Amino acid sequence: MMKHETIETNSGLLIILTLAVISIGGLVEIVPLFYIDGTVEEVEGVRPYSPLELRGRDIYVREGCYTCHSQMIRPFRDEYLRYGHYSLAAESQYDHPFQWGSKRTGPDLARVGGKYSNDWHVQHLVAPRSVVPESIMPNYPWLLDNELQYADVEARMKALKRVGVPYSETVEEYRANVEKFGEDVARTLDIGRARENLVAQAQAGNFDGNGARLSEMDAVVAYLQVLGTMVDFGQYDEGHFAQFR
Ligand code: HEC
Repeated sequence: MMKHETIETNSGLLIILTLAVISIGGLVEIVPLFYIDGTVEEVEGVRPYSPLELRGRDIYVREGCYTCHSQMIRPFRDEYLRYGHYSLAAESQYDHPFQWGSKRTGPDLARVGGKYSNDWHVQHLVAPRSVVPESIMPNYPWLLDNELQYADVEARMKALKRVGVPYSETVEEYRANVEKFGEDVARTLDIGRARENLVAQAQAGNFDGNGARLSEMDAVVAYLQVLGTMVDFGQYDEGHFAQFR
């Protein structure tokens, strides 16, 4: 029998045995990740962004909104009393990069969708202090002036597809989306119809209040209005999602 003292007083042996123990622990944790498709529990309602929402999200990232706003409600009482149901992993499943963040100079935005009208968002983004006098958020007037560029929206969707977001290019992929998300959503995920879908959503939603042209504001407001609205929490009991934490 080897005494523990023998190991502790022999540093060569101690190093070898330590490495052996760490490698076993590492293999047990890392190897399964190569054999499973995903680590996120699927939740009904969660879908990839439409082309217009996606452009909005990219502008949100470009403007650095994430430097002041997080998008993750933690499962603590003070958080869900203020912001609503805590965030589920599935809700940021298609976000690359995710917008969780840890800096909250402003409030969390994970469930801001539907909280205000489109008009309020436009006014607030152009001049935050005109609606919230004590605000320290910067003005973003150019969102309304800049015409929305969307010539590259297909390329943006293809890039996300490469990292696993189910935008469709082939008929089979389209059919799989119809199966998974339903016909209406599947259509918005079709890369071949991206520009046409983007324009249609902007015109139907008229997010910036000006139907005559497409501005960056249209995209940003469409994005803000969808945040946190995909899962219908009303249909679940309290505690239902505890199993997905
Ligand atoms: C310098 C920090 C800062 C930056 C950058 C910033 N915000 Fe804010 N934001 C705030 C603060 C502070 C508030 C709270 C006061 C207010 O409503 O204006 C806020 C509030 C908001 C609200 C209202 C949230 C609610 O629940 O009432 C929205 C929506 C919002 N910001 C969107 C944005 C967007 C979109 C961007 C990027 C274009 C952005 N913010 C950039 C600080 C910031």
